[in-house]
Amino acid sequence: MPTVTVTRRVHFNAAHRLHNPAFSDDENVRIFGLCNNPNYHGHNYELEVSVEGEIDPATGYVADLGEVKRLVVEHALRYLDHKNLNLDVPEFRDLNPTTENLVVVIWELLEGRLPGKLKQLVLWETPRNRVEYSGS
Ligand code: NI
Repeated sequence: MPTVTVTRRVHFNAAHRLHNPAFSDDENVRIFGLCNNPNYHGHNYELEVSVEGEIDPATGYVADLGEVKRLVVEHALRYLDHKNLNLDVPEFRDLNPTTENLVVVIWELLEGRLPGKLKQLVLWETPRNRVEYSGS
């Protein structure tokens, strides 16, 4: 059977502060700009989760995208949605919660827990900025 990639888009909100204590305050502002705000700020994240597999001849599906969504909520969004990434999510205790680092954390939460093979995550921090990760 043909191998096809299917994608579910989900939404979550989270707060963060980008900051590296090894940099001076001025450097932090220069490098991270508004995302260095000391009292945090929020983003409306959009996450696209793509899984790959063969089409099931009985259903015509690679994966039930409703089931994919349920599992993404269970394994990732329950952990991240409406959280302060710096304070509430242990992975970011010593890791800057950039979109790049966040997409890798989400990959680790989801890999092996979805029907089909997790192929790619696309994480939008704003409607103009996105990062992509395929597990390596
Ligand atoms: Ni930000």
